[in-house]
Amino acid sequence: MATLNQVLVIVLSVISVITCSSNAQLSPNFYAKTCPNLQTIVRNGMRQAVAKEARLAASILRLFFHDCFVNGCDASILLDDTATFTGEKNAAPNRNSARGFEVIDSIKSNVEVACNATVSCADILALATRDGVVLLGGPSWIVALGRRDARTASQSAANSQIPSPFSDLSTLISMFAAKGLNARDLTVLSGGHTIGQAECQFFRNRIYNESNIDAKFASTRKANCPTSGGDTNLAPLDSLTATRFDNNYYNDLVAQRGLLHSDQVLFNGGSQDALVRSYSANNAAFFSDFAAAMVKMSNISPLTGTSGEIRKNCRVIN
Ligand code: HEM
Ligand SMILES: *[C@@H]1O[C@H](CO)[C@@H](O)[C@H](O)[C@H]1NC(C)=O
Ligand SMILES: *[C@@H]1O[C@H](CO)[C@@H](O)[C@H](O)[C@H]1NC(C)=O
Repeated sequence: MATLNQVLVIVLSVISVITCSSNAQLSPNFYAKTCPNLQTIVRNGMRQAVAKEARLAASILRLFFHDCFVNGCDASILLDDTATFTGEKNAAPNRNSARGFEVIDSIKSNVEVACNATVSCADILALATRDGVVLLGGPSWIVALGRRDARTASQSAANSQIPSPFSDLSTLISMFAAKGLNARDLTVLSGGHTIGQAECQFFRNRIYNESNIDAKFASTRKANCPTSGGDTNLAPLDSLTATRFDNNYYNDLVAQRGLLHSDQVLFNGGSQDALVRSYSANNAAFFSDFAAAMVKMSNISPLTGTSGEIRKNCRVIN
């Protein structure tokens, strides 16, 4: 007869197998022996980049989101197009807008000097993203490692699976659900828009044509976003503190100062209003939920084991 203790051990190990099955091989200590200085190298690279331009932390966070939503967090977004290879950089959500690639290149070359042919570009992007958020005052989280780099990319998946700023709430919810993320994850991860900038072409219709917008805010934004022309003129996604990772994004939503249509739908009389209000009132709740949701997003379909490769250069397959 099994003792109660033996039964408990079996039950607990079954539970742990079930809960870890989606990322069985990712571990925070993955490179502890093979690249012990990895985290320091990435942090220093991000520190330098953010000191030069704070927005780069935002740009890297967005790169990671756009990577993870297209066939998982596999560094597919980092691959350059060539005569014979079509990557994701020219997909509509990325073209002339995804940025920060040079930061990853520079960190990767430092990592290669320290630990040749060992660390994936996908893991470097995951760590750089976390470090950028921390450098702008946001929460930290532990990044599990061991992702490998894709040998493929998909421009069509990038076009169809990354949400558009013109999407309604139901579309956003279902596009996140397709990646294993729920509506609460959508609302807290959209808080990434507490940092960074957006181009006029993505918020023009909102400031000229929508009624659930603060009038003074709309008129301020119109000054640098005319009805035609100026498509690439920038405005901050967070009206007050675009280089500070804080909960002001949610204060903006509550005041109808969301910049993108896809931002304001989170607070427009729908299912996410209460959560938006709670994050606007409670920075600590936003920080802890954001960190947990970033861990969830970081675990979308990693390549592990012998799948994929460790790229030498993040822009090209080996
Ligand atoms: C919910 C669906 C989302 C939509 C429709 C969306 C859309 C956009 C758009 C249109 C821009 C401006 C790009 C440009 O003008 O170049 C942008 C910027 C940005 N997005 Fe999102 N986004 C979404 C979710 C997220 C998530 C989940 C994150 C990260 C957790 C994120 C992080 C960022 C950041 C940091 C920027 C600023 C980038 C920079 O300044 O370079 N976004 N987003
Ligand atoms: C890095 O490793 C590859 C093979 O894994 C080797 O061909 C190359 O010479 C190495 N480069 C350096 C700088 O050690
Ligand atoms: C406002 O909406 C109308 C009708 O959909 C559209 O034709 C027009 O281009 C929009 N204006 C702006 C500035 O986006």
